Amino acid sequence: MTTPLPRIPRRQFLRRAVAAATLLPVACASAPKPKRYAANEKLRLGVIGVANQGGSNLNAVASEDIVALCDVDRDYLAAASSQFPNARSFVDFRELLTDDSLGLDGVVISTPDHTHAPATVMALKRRLAVYCEKPLTHTVEECRTLQNLAAKHRCVTQMGTIIHAEPNYRRVVEAIRAGVIGPITQVDCWCPKSWCCAKPTPGAVPPERLNWPLWQGPIPDAPYVEGIAPANWRGHWSYGTGTLGDMGCHILDLPFWALDLAGPKGDRMIVAADGPPVDAMGCPEWLEATWVFPNAAPPKGDPLIVRWFDGGRIPPTVQEIGAKDRQDYFGRYMVCFQGTHGFLLANYGEMKILMVPDAVLPEPTIPASPGHHREWLDAIRSGADTGDGAPLCRFEYSAPLTEMVLLGTVAYRSRSQITWDRPLPVLANDPALKPWLTERYRDGWSLT
Ligand SMILES: NC(=O)c1ccc[n+]([C@@H]2O[C@H](COP(=O)([O-])OP(=O)(O)OC[C@H]3O[C@@H](n4cnc5c(N)ncnc54)[C@H](O)[C@@H]3O)[C@@H](O)[C@H]2O)c1
Repeated sequence: MTTPLPRIPRRQFLRRAVAAATLLPVACASAPKPKRYAANEKLRLGVIGVANQGGSNLNAVASEDIVALCDVDRDYLAAASSQFPNARSFVDFRELLTDDSLGLDGVVISTPDHTHAPATVMALKRRLAVYCEKPLTHTVEECRTLQNLAAKHRCVTQMGTIIHAEPNYRRVVEAIRAGVIGPITQVDCWCPKSWCCAKPTPGAVPPERLNWPLWQGPIPDAPYVEGIAPANWRGHWSYGTGTLGDMGCHILDLPFWALDLAGPKGDRMIVAADGPPVDAMGCPEWLEATWVFPNAAPPKGDPLIVRWFDGGRIPPTVQEIGAKDRQDYFGRYMVCFQGTHGFLLANYGEMKILMVPDAVLPEPTIPASPGHHREWLDAIRSGADTGDGAPLCRFEYSAPLTEMVLLGTVAYRSRSQITWDRPLPVLANDPALKPWLTERYRDGWSLT
């Protein structure tokens, strides 16, 4: 399949050229190196969002000194406090993040997507280490802000894409880079889940245990929606990012890593998406998105194409090879790399190579991870914000990944094909996309 590359109108081209000429490099670190800690010194951590994924993250860092817990749900907070009776309890993360008496070294943020950025920005400005859940942010602009602040303040960061630390992703990355199926021309990714279709529930009242204004945080006040928390906020554009935003950071992480799309190959992308008619409130039941990377074209080949299918949509390539082999590749895997010699199918824990009968996997070269949370804790101790010893999903990597994922939702919601030059400031790419690239915060909340 070849997707024609659109011509950039002259006026837009000139605007981009001016913006590029005045662009500051992202990694303009101005702060001293991060503090180092003795191997046996316990880190003083605050945990924001303490139930469900927050509860898993809390347990994963429980070997450290948990000095502060924050949750807007009274019952969740009480349960976590009984587990860590020495930790101070907060309902508003802004109070936790401005309380110097806590002597924090880092924070773990596992709230819904729309509150990742405001909490993380406050933490980075205080030069705290941050472990933040995926997707890193709710909007593309927030994502850039976090990437720039983490670099500027030299903070040790990690996004919660825990599969990145598993062995199978490492083996797939090595196989793709070794050319086991030849240069890659296309990658299909899919997820049958469907986080969607939020509708208002007039007259619904938040449960007493939930502080609804603080749960909404920076988002302009809106009526409570029955059953929105926990978890179901994923299908609301105001708070979540649909199935693509929820699962894309895990699944698209694999081609993003293997094909080095955090680097210059991923600097330019053309993004398009399709789905049911766009709803202002609810995310779609299904969505298909395509990213075309002209800079990542195999030698003498067409541009690299990465595609996403959710809500049960089946990538045609996978359907076709499955039909030929009488195998349900769609049901078992979630990524299909198409190379010039064959296919490589992968899920979180296994891979299968098709049409290369004599395929030999390369010797492992990517070192094993000590564990996704442990990478972050070890890096805090050794003061490794970037380079050797730094967490692999630090914001330098995970912000561009999240940016790619979120641009799929922007293309869908704006019903437009986007030509995106990542080295440009967010709004220099196309100011008309502002409503979908940025967040309108309510009074009292801002990223600055
Ligand atoms: N890495 C993974 O594998 C994985 C798995 C599940 C969820 N997640 C991510 O974790 C995050 C949370 O997902 P979830 O399913 O646990 O959501 P959830 O709604 O079930 O839980 C969120 C928790 O944060 C609390 N919370 C909400 N707003 C808060 C605020 N403003 N301040 C303090 N606490 C607040 C809630 O009360 C609850 O305890 C999301 O970003 C999600 O994408 C990651």
